[in-house]
Amino acid sequence: MSDRAIKPKLSGTQLIRALYHLVNAVRLHQDNNQLIKDCLNQFNGVIGEISADEDITIRIWRGRFHIQDERILFRRDNYTVINEMLDYFSRRGLVGFCLFATFRNTRPENLLTLVRLLNESIKHDEPLDWLNSQLDEAGFSWVELYRVQDEKATNLDPQHKEMAWNTYLAAMNVVKEVAEKVSGGVAGVRKARRLAQTIVDLVHEDYSLMLGLATIRDYDDYTYTHSVNVAFFATCLGRYVGLSQVFLEHLAVCGLFHDLGKVGVSKEILLKPGVLNAEEWDTMRRHPLIGTRKILRLQAPHSLKSRIILGPFEHHLNPDLTGYPQTHFMKHLSLFGKILRIVDVYEALTAQRSYRPRSYSPDEALCQMWSERGRSFDPLLLKSFINMMGVYPIGSILELNTGEIGLVIDYPDESQKTLPLIMLLDADSKGGYISGELVNLADQRDAADGVFRSIVRGVHASKLGIQPSQYFLQEPRLTGLED
Ligand SMILES: [Fe+2]
Ligand SMILES: [Fe+2]
Repeated sequence: MSDRAIKPKLSGTQLIRALYHLVNAVRLHQDNNQLIKDCLNQFNGVIGEISADEDITIRIWRGRFHIQDERILFRRDNYTVINEMLDYFSRRGLVGFCLFATFRNTRPENLLTLVRLLNESIKHDEPLDWLNSQLDEAGFSWVELYRVQDEKATNLDPQHKEMAWNTYLAAMNVVKEVAEKVSGGVAGVRKARRLAQTIVDLVHEDYSLMLGLATIRDYDDYTYTHSVNVAFFATCLGRYVGLSQVFLEHLAVCGLFHDLGKVGVSKEILLKPGVLNAEEWDTMRRHPLIGTRKILRLQAPHSLKSRIILGPFEHHLNPDLTGYPQTHFMKHLSLFGKILRIVDVYEALTAQRSYRPRSYSPDEALCQMWSERGRSFDPLLLKSFINMMGVYPIGSILELNTGEIGLVIDYPDESQKTLPLIMLLDADSKGGYISGELVNLADQRDAADGVFRSIVRGVHASKLGIQPSQYFLQEPRLTGLED
């Protein structure tokens, strides 16, 4: 990996922090103040760490800062600064800027002037128009500001998507491999642990993409796609409730292995249309126990096995310990058991299953689960899950007041999850849909086409023959660039 790929990740947060300090110092002091000089040195120092001679880009995409196209993570120690800077940019209609390489030749006072102009722009009706005119007047050709609508023309993370997709496939293979090997004798967990680490990293980097991928369904290999989806959802929920890296890695392994016991169940039972008879149900109900035995047989340190065994054992138990398998030695469910219980049911409800006449759309599934809170799920964790997923979870298909169809791909504002960022899906000539432009339903004041869109209802992806996951692996059509 080149230095360039590593440095932005390390220095991105520092750059936002340095900008934050500079903006505030300039707001309070005159140019010759020592604090300003220190802040300026700090800012230039971080720029130098990122690159000695390249353009430096800062931009906001899907509500997150990206430095040189590397996403900056929210962490406890940078949360306030990043949020304040997101707000600073947003109030000016700014989604980022580029400091061209020539910026390094400009005098330090010019950078201070830029920061003063940024600060002052808020006093004007059209901050960005005013800013651009000031920059033109000053002859600052070393900087370019990005407007809100330019955001849609950014094209980030193609490698990232490829990595997420490869991780999905690798995770499916690992579950298959372990399931087959453990039935015949010896199976290790090294690969699964490595994958779990990658899943956790990807969830930290872009959990929206992971939630989007978790809509993948393979009806022939349902147990495997289901296991990977459960691992993705569980890791996202674990991250949402603040679990540490190590816990998240164990949770991801639990998700991958939670249905290992189903691998021995015949396809006739797993795929049987209609209701199972008593004997078949009995077989199905044994799968958590069989899975637990398989985990015990894995070649892995006892300390690891002890951490990944409870969740799979408990994933069909209710908070009052009804459900299956029947147990007399437990007093309450573990955290992993409660998390798996929620995400397992959600995944199963939204998948098309042989024994159910229809699947639930994501919003219907959440409503149904909420009606069973307390009885079937830990209510606090379920609330967190619903908050994390949003009113219309990522991957939902929406019907809009304009008659258009949209796919929920993200919630730019994590604190307010009622109005998502959607990708319009345009009907093609073959009866399918192709990806269209991105529309942020939360902010349509500047809608490029002047159309105000609102949500009418959620629709079943399967009814329209749509596989939501495929659109998460494609780039949206670039708006503003069509002829
Ligand atoms: Fe299960
Ligand atoms: Fe399951």
